[in-house]
This record gives sequence, structure tokens and C-alpha cells, in this order.
Amino acid sequence: MESSLNKMKKKTILVTGGLGYIGSHTSINLIEEGYKLIIVDNLCNSSLTVLDNIYKLTSIKPVFYKCNITNLKELNNIFSNHKIDGIMHFAALKSVSESLKFPNKYFRNNVEGLKILLKCCKRHNVNKFIFSSSCTVYGIPKKLPVTESFPFKKPLSPYGETKIISEEILIDFTKSHHSFKNISIRYFNPVGAHNSITIGEIPIGIPNNLVPAITQTCIGKIKELKVFGKDYNTKDGTALRDYIHIEDLARAHLKAYKYLDKLSKKNYEFFNIGTGKGHTVLEVINTFEKIIKKKLKYRFVGKRRGDVEKIYADVRKANKLLRWKANYNLEEMLKSAWLWEKKLNDSKRNFGNV
Ligand code: NAD
Ligand code: WQD
Repeated sequence: MESSLNKMKKKTILVTGGLGYIGSHTSINLIEEGYKLIIVDNLCNSSLTVLDNIYKLTSIKPVFYKCNITNLKELNNIFSNHKIDGIMHFAALKSVSESLKFPNKYFRNNVEGLKILLKCCKRHNVNKFIFSSSCTVYGIPKKLPVTESFPFKKPLSPYGETKIISEEILIDFTKSHHSFKNISIRYFNPVGAHNSITIGEIPIGIPNNLVPAITQTCIGKIKELKVFGKDYNTKDGTALRDYIHIEDLARAHLKAYKYLDKLSKKNYEFFNIGTGKGHTVLEVINTFEKIIKKKLKYRFVGKRRGDVEKIYADVRKANKLLRWKANYNLEEMLKSAWLWEKKLNDSKRNFGNV
């Protein structure tokens, strides 16, 4: 007879946005833990090569649907075709600057997409849900480090607003559907690639985020890194963030999924996932320079619109309840990001693809 452990391990999780940066790393962890996966992604910010790379790493090809989560009919068919234990919902548009230009596109994709997903959960009695939220829900924090009990702050962008609205929709949904359980994970700044350097982030166009901008400057894709702001109230005048290795972040999702079963009185929960340590932009650059053993070309420019001066996480809640802890430090994250950048560059030169 099959052991209860094996039965547990064969549960099926539907991963939306599973070919994206965070979703793909988490998918690998889930497969390695024995879960069956259904990945739903419309490929608006990813490619099928990632599916091949998941196969290379795990020898398992998850069931894949190219589907937009805002398409109720298609999504409903997927729910009808499988016995789904729970959802990990990564699919969203994530560019802060693009959201300032096209706010409606962001509300439609991120908020309507979530509502449609919840409609399917209700119809098909799927009651476990992990949501990709963000430290952006804290806006400009008054106190540091930020704990999960801090109230939502005025969002700095339509993107940020979609995350606050989504968390609120999920709380309402859990309150009116008693068997439904949700955990929203508030990511700080994910960095780096899978330890095998087979998958990682593939930014389209000029990257908005600091670490890909640094690695692209080093490889020569960007002439000179722009450092946004030098008179912030921090030790060296540059802005401070809590960077978290993608491997640590991916692992937190598994812990959270298992923790869903422990939720009782309150059927929802939130967790910050960061290292709990803040690093300034100059610290990141200096650490990177130590790794590459040369100077990086950069210059100071004005502050970027909407940037927070400093933010880092209080991670004690995740440490205690999820029994999760970050394993990697900044230097390890940057080494990983640099190896990935070199791999991307080599593959593009040789084959035109990763
Ligand atoms: P990503 O763009 O790499 O991945 C998102 C994936 O979702 C992509 O593969 C994209 O094609 C897919 N997608 C988007 N809209 C879709 C739709 N309507 N239907 C189906 N598929 C769709 O982004 P990521 O960095 O992996 O982020 C994953 C989640 O984490 C997002 O919800 C994002 O808002 C959140 N988040 C990211 C960061 C970060 O810095 N990367 C920080 C905090 C929160
Ligand atoms: C970090 C620091 C920049 C690029 C964004 C989203 C947030 C969340 C995480 C999704 C800042 C500075 C950057 C460059 C620079 N994502 N910088 N030169 O701003 O914390 O957050 O990603 O939820 O919502 O806003 O991360 O990596 O863009 O910037 O000086 O070329 O690096 O000004 O101080 P951020 P980031």
C-alpha cells in the first residue's frame, strides 16, 4: 500500500507564471519535493526554453498550458481536467515604471487575473493558495525593519496598488470561504540564479533592477551604471534594500505551502521574505567589485521617481513559524548573478538562446 508520505508527495499544484523568474525556481523545488506541477503561463515575460531547462534539471516535464489567467473559459477547462490540491500564483506584470504609464493594463492583468483564478478555485473547490506579494505594500516605512503587522501604505505605483488590492481580495475571500487558506509572501529584492546556473532572470530591455544593471554594465551591455541618488539618509548616501537569494526565496514557498495546513483560527497569513539585512547601492557595487576584481563604471544621477530611501525586513515571523531562514549572503547572491550573466552572454553569442 502506498505510504501516506508518498500520497502527500504526489499532490498537484497549479503554478501560474511558472516559467518566470521566481516561478521557475520554485517549480524546480516543488518537483524535487515530489509534487506534480501544472504550469500556466502566457509567456508574456518568459519562454518555453525555461520549460526545457526545468526538464534538464529535474528530468520531469511539468504539464504546461500557454494560457492567460484572465481567460476564464480556458482557465476553467484546466481546472476541470486536473485534480488540483493548491495554487502558487506568480503570474503578474511587475514593472513599476511600465505600470505608471499603463495602470489599467496592470489592474486588468494582476487584479482581474486574481479574481478569475479565485472564481475557478471556488467552482472546483481548490482551497490552498500562495500569493506573490511584495515589500512594495509597505510604501515608505516609518520604522525599520518592517514587520508584517505594519499597515499598508499609500502605494508608490499602480503596480504596488495591485499588490495591496490583491492581498485585500484574498483576505475577503478567505473570510467568506471558510475552507480556503491563503498565505501572501512579501518578497524583498530577489537576486541571483539557480545554483546550477541553468535558469535565472532574463530581463527584457534595459533592466530596472540594480543587480542585473550591475552585471550588464560589467559585461558591457550597459556603458555605465547610473546610481540613482547620493544624498539619502543612509551611511553612504545611497538607498538601502534587503536583497534575497532566489534559492532562499524559492524554498520559502515550499515551507509556506506546508504551513497552510497549520492555519486554523485565521485562514490567512503574511510573511516577509528577505535576509533581514539592508545593503546600500554602494555596498552592492563594492561587493561586486571584489568578486570581479576590477572597478565598475558608474556615475551618480538624480533620484529615481518613486524610490524608497531604505527598507529591510523583519523576518522573525518566517524564521519562527515557517522554520525558514535565509542561507545566502550578499556576496553569494552577486556571484550567482554574475555567473548567470556570463552564461546568458555566452549562450546568446553561441546559440541565440539560453
Ligand atoms: P516574471 O515576469 O519573471 O514572471 C511572471 C510570469 O507570469 C511570466 O512568465 C509571465 O509570462 C507570466 N504572466 C504574467 N501575466 C500573465 C497572465 N495574465 N497569464 C499567464 N501568465 C502571465 O516575474 P517574477 O520576478 O518571477 O515575479 C513573480 C511574481 O512575484 C509576480 O507576481 C511579481 O509581482 C512578484 N514579485 C516580484 C519581485 C521581483 O523583484 N522579481 C518582487 C516582489 C514581488
Ligand atoms: C534597488 C536600488 C534604485 C537600478 C523594485 C520594485 C519593487 C519590487 C522589487 C516587485 C534602488 C537603485 C537601481 C539602477 C540604481 N518588485 N538602482 N541604478 O527599487 O527596491 O524595487 O524591485 O514587487 O516593487 O520597485 O529594486 O533593484 O530596482 O533598485 O541606482 O540602474 O538600486 O534606485 O535604490 P527596488 P531595484
